[in-house]
Amino acid sequence: MTAPALEIEDLRLEIHSAGRASVILRGVNLVVQQGAIHALVGESGGGKSMVTRAATGLLPRGARIVGGRIRLAGQDVTHWSEAQWRQVRGKVVSMVLQDPLTALNPVRRIGAQLADVLKLHLGLRGAACLREAAALLERVHIREPQRVLALYPHQLSGGMRQRVVIAMAWACKPQLILCDEPTTALDVTVQKEVLRLIYELAREGQGVLLVTHDLGVVAKLAQTMSVIHSGRILEEGSVAQVYAQPRHPYTRALLNATPRYDRPGRTLVPVDEALIAALDAEAAAMDRAGARA
Ligand SMILES: Nc1ncnc2c1ncn2[C@@H]1O[C@H](COP(=O)(O)OP(=O)(O)OP(=O)(O)O)[C@@H](O)[C@H]1O
Ligand SMILES: [Mg+2]
Repeated sequence: MTAPALEIEDLRLEIHSAGRASVILRGVNLVVQQGAIHALVGESGGGKSMVTRAATGLLPRGARIVGGRIRLAGQDVTHWSEAQWRQVRGKVVSMVLQDPLTALNPVRRIGAQLADVLKLHLGLRGAACLREAAALLERVHIREPQRVLALYPHQLSGGMRQRVVIAMAWACKPQLILCDEPTTALDVTVQKEVLRLIYELAREGQGVLLVTHDLGVVAKLAQTMSVIHSGRILEEGSVAQVYAQPRHPYTRALLNATPRYDRPGRTLVPVDEALIAALDAEAAAMDRAGARA
């Protein structure tokens, strides 16, 4: 049996700054199977991006993994050095972020940037490299790929830029693609096309961890999901099961705050502040108990 694209087991992470430690992840468990989309949902500050950063070795300064394990396609990467990460980033795991401009170099042509990835990980050179770069752009439904290869990022629309970023992320067919709010910065009309593309890629065998706060997107795209708050996974399961019978009050609150295409006209209720305060208090109590242990 093939190993999952990503397995995170009881991951605990702190950030140390100015002599103080803040607990960010409090024992996160999560599995992304190859060829499947797993959604990670929850409100701002819950730890979604920190999970993706841990899974690609891009933790912020002061961050320390203080417990648990991360496995990428079966390989334990928990305490890898930057040099080790560089060998697999783009090849085994790659990342699509909210703003495509941060992923692209503004002063290099699209073709040159795609060629960098293809050279580094696949050893392609010259005409073969250009052919593959054009094929990748075609694969992400960019028309006139030859013309686009010669352009700079600022000459493309936001949606086109995100397609290029997805093409780069997909270039080496990594086992895992981390998509952190990949459509938040795009026009609504373009969002659908980009999500459709991510869906297609997963069907070709890539495991996708899709970070979003949009439960409508989760329902359409993902097979399995986890709900995170205060660095804790409060609920996980198949999307169908979680939507039909959410077990955790926070999941129910998130669902009640989301428009549902299957229940039009339903009144939306914002997530209750008292519930959030109770979850924060629980997390703080866990930290105190952990500190005493
Ligand atoms: N560089 C950093 N230094 C210190 N704390 C940080 C840093 N980055 C994030 N945090 C903290 O870590 C926690 C989790 O942040 P994270 O960015 O993972 O949340 P998120 O779920 O991705 O939120 P959003 O939906 O807003 O993107 C938050 O409390 C945040 O304040
Ligand atoms: Mg985030």
